[in-house]
Amino acid sequence: MKKFVYVLLVAALMLASIGTAAAAPNSAITCDQTVTVTAGDWLSKLAEKAFGTVTSYWAIMWATNQKNAEDSSYAKITNADALEVGQKLCIPSKADAEAFLKDFNPTRASDLAKLFASGAKGQLIVASWWTNGGEFAGLNQMFEQFKKANPDVEIVNAAVAGGAGTNFKGQLLSQLLGGVAPDTFQLHAGWEADTYNPGVLIVPVDEVYKRNNLEAVFPPTLLAMLKFKDHYWGVPVNIHRSNVLWYNKALLDKAGVTPPTTWDEFFAAADKLKAAGIAPVALGGKDGFELQHTFEDILAGSMTAEEYAGLWTGKTSWKSPKVTQALETFKKYLSYANADHDALTWAAATQLLIDGKAAMNIMGDWANGQFVAANFTDYGWAPVPGTKGIFVALSDSFALPAKAPSPANANLWLDLAGSKAAQEAFNAQKGSICARTDCDYSAFNAYLQSAAKDWTVDAIVPSVTHGAAATPSWATKGYADAIVLFATTGDVAAAQAALVQAAADAGFPQ
Ligand code: GAL
Repeated sequence: MKKFVYVLLVAALMLASIGTAAAAPNSAITCDQTVTVTAGDWLSKLAEKAFGTVTSYWAIMWATNQKNAEDSSYAKITNADALEVGQKLCIPSKADAEAFLKDFNPTRASDLAKLFASGAKGQLIVASWWTNGGEFAGLNQMFEQFKKANPDVEIVNAAVAGGAGTNFKGQLLSQLLGGVAPDTFQLHAGWEADTYNPGVLIVPVDEVYKRNNLEAVFPPTLLAMLKFKDHYWGVPVNIHRSNVLWYNKALLDKAGVTPPTTWDEFFAAADKLKAAGIAPVALGGKDGFELQHTFEDILAGSMTAEEYAGLWTGKTSWKSPKVTQALETFKKYLSYANADHDALTWAAATQLLIDGKAAMNIMGDWANGQFVAANFTDYGWAPVPGTKGIFVALSDSFALPAKAPSPANANLWLDLAGSKAAQEAFNAQKGSICARTDCDYSAFNAYLQSAAKDWTVDAIVPSVTHGAAATPSWATKGYADAIVLFATTGDVAAAQAALVQAAADAGFPQ
């Protein structure tokens, strides 16, 4: 229910972005109760308790935000799904809540504006899929810096839960096609820009690069990844690494295994862990990207960096025996994973490592952000077996929709996104390295320091699962569908044939 309510909220917030008129000033709010958030509280639960219906949480959000405008000891709720312990909430009287909700329609922009106090310089609607611990913590750092520099702009966090943007991208696209846009939104560097009809639904951000001299501070490899159809479509905040094997140190020690560097070592370690009664592998699947993600790393580890990169440019054939080998390895890997992977998000799989319930997990380094957010330090990392010296890369940027309600505020955000201060604060929490080359890593944790170093020496190849390597339809249909189906059937020949077909459909007959 919590997620459902949240997705509704987010969809509605994004609709609210049309002509974000400043919210009408509300007469003084009276709180019937003041509640301090404790662990396990969320808005819909509090609403049910106070008013008998979960959907009345809008009234608590409205009352608390209005109250915050006059008394900052009250919380400002920008993300209804991320209450923090200790936040002070205003629960209006049942009568006030009913009066508010009577005419409240969450799909009506003018009504949604009432949920937020108005900024003298309007709103900034930031859309992303960053709702998990480290992701939200990182984004929040940027919000803090933006608020400090622009206290008159009200930030609306229009995040849609779902790792890798599984839910976000489709929802955003239909809204953009319907003429509704946030002020800025999360966009992967590379082919993903093609999803949003560049030049029509999104506009180039070349000017942001020019005025901030960004071409001089981003590495050439990243700039090449970002430039699409001769323009830049997003300002990058980070570089993430896809091919990381994370492990719980105590569990590996307990089973007497050392971090594996080859697949033979990996499976031997997994057998030892199993024999010691420890679940060897934590795998997610619920967010709909984890399987494809794991397989891209296994692929990269089954051939040279150049051969892997060539899969996406027609230079390497998908008929290669190395692809067959990668599928065999993936099949074996799946046999060691938790059977309920389709029920777990990537964050839940990461949590299994944190909780000492599973030993190893392949995931991008947003997992590092999750460890930081959970104050968990007993973890180690290694390149996914076979990928030493290879950095499977992706980058998150912020784009500018053609119909951004407030391009002025969006541009302020884009300037901030490219800045050293924002990238240092954001990435230390997010688990990624800076897009900029001049960040000071001394305050970053040991993993990030090692990733920053690897970035400078490794062969950089693009992630397909996170927008960089292939056209959106190849990545999210051809390639993804073949892998998801393979995880169920285990039919190597059929999966390879489907991958060959997907490449052919993308314009690379094999
Ligand atoms: C990726 C994104 C990361 C991370 C991850 C899980 O696509 O680039 O920033 O958040 O999804 O949601």
